[in-house]
Amino acid sequence: MNCIKIGILGLGNVGKGVWNIIEENKNKIDNYLGSNLEIKKILVRDIHKNRGIAIPQEKLTTNPLEIIQDPEIDIIIEVIGGIDTAFEYIKQAFENGKHVVTANKAVIATHGNKLRALAQRYGVELRYEASVGGGIPIINTLTQSLSANKIDELVGIINGTTNYILTQMSDFGMDFDDALKLAQEKGYAEADPTSDIEGEDVAFKLSILIAVAFGIHIEPHEIPREGITKISKKDIEYASQLGYKIKLFATAKKFDNNFEFHVHPTLVPSNHPLASVSNEFNALFIRGNAVGELMLYGKGAGSMPTGSAVMGDILEIGKIIGTNYKSTPLDVVSEKHLNIIGEG
Ligand code: NAP
Ligand code: HSE
Repeated sequence: MNCIKIGILGLGNVGKGVWNIIEENKNKIDNYLGSNLEIKKILVRDIHKNRGIAIPQEKLTTNPLEIIQDPEIDIIIEVIGGIDTAFEYIKQAFENGKHVVTANKAVIATHGNKLRALAQRYGVELRYEASVGGGIPIINTLTQSLSANKIDELVGIINGTTNYILTQMSDFGMDFDDALKLAQEKGYAEADPTSDIEGEDVAFKLSILIAVAFGIHIEPHEIPREGITKISKKDIEYASQLGYKIKLFATAKKFDNNFEFHVHPTLVPSNHPLASVSNEFNALFIRGNAVGELMLYGKGAGSMPTGSAVMGDILEIGKIIGTNYKSTPLDVVSEKHLNIIGEG
């Protein structure tokens, strides 16, 4: 069997999710690709940190060039976060002929155009499904399934941390700071959670969605935004008495040649489908001129859901580069499963 080798930059929440998914689903993944998918090396800052996961020490490095310049590595996963260093590593990865998958909305929203142009120049793939909506396939839905549509509206909840905090405050009377701490412990928040609670993370994601859905580039800092730091338990209580929930909404609408886009807390009628999106779940309402209205819903943050989106991109690239690619998922249905279906 051929081998597709991966290097991972970062072993935090998302990096560990990727590791666990490959461990748990190795047979299915390898059968799907017709290749043996191997994580060759992982970049961390601190090799000796206790990560609560059994990874052989020799897989870890603090030297990014051991991954970026390794001629055996085909695909690099960037999950260190942040902008400048991540941009530099992705650029160097392209220069070394590597395909790149990232979950980093900050670097894609800020430097997406440059990175897409560089990927094209070096003839490699750049994928970033996990950058918006955690495990929900939003980017692929917009760029593939809905590609024949003119999209004119995107509205939704696209930050797990703030939705988790608002849910805990509203349903369990928890204080803002305690709920944020819990969201951090669960691995939903950014390394600096200010980005989540001040709406910056949502602005990054909305900028990516606007580029993908409308084909226009809006700098994240041009998106008017307000986070949830001014929302008190009293606000939530009053809203509830009036029949509303408070949710942090991202909105982008297109009217002829005019665009409206913003991020802010919104009063949502309690019987509206977006009002029942709780905790780390996200949901995005999309309106296209052919498909009409649809809504995507699922876990918008967390180690395994985000790892799932990263792995979807990896397998897509694996299909492109794998020599023994088997073309249909049916190829991997085991005889045991076929027998069970037959017995029914
Ligand atoms: P995280 O838990 O903070 O992990 C970051 C990892 O990167 C750590 O292992 C850290 O090493 C390593 N790292 C950071 N800077 C580094 C550097 N300069 N050199 C070497 N290693 C470095 O972050 P995360 O939650 O996994 O998020 C990673 C990315 O995915 C971010 O862009 C985030 O926005 C995005 N994302 C996260 C989620 C989520 O639910 N968490 C969902 C979607 C997208 P040490 O461990 O040694 O410190
Ligand atoms: N911090 C982000 C969130 C991670 O809470 O939504 C997923 O992008």
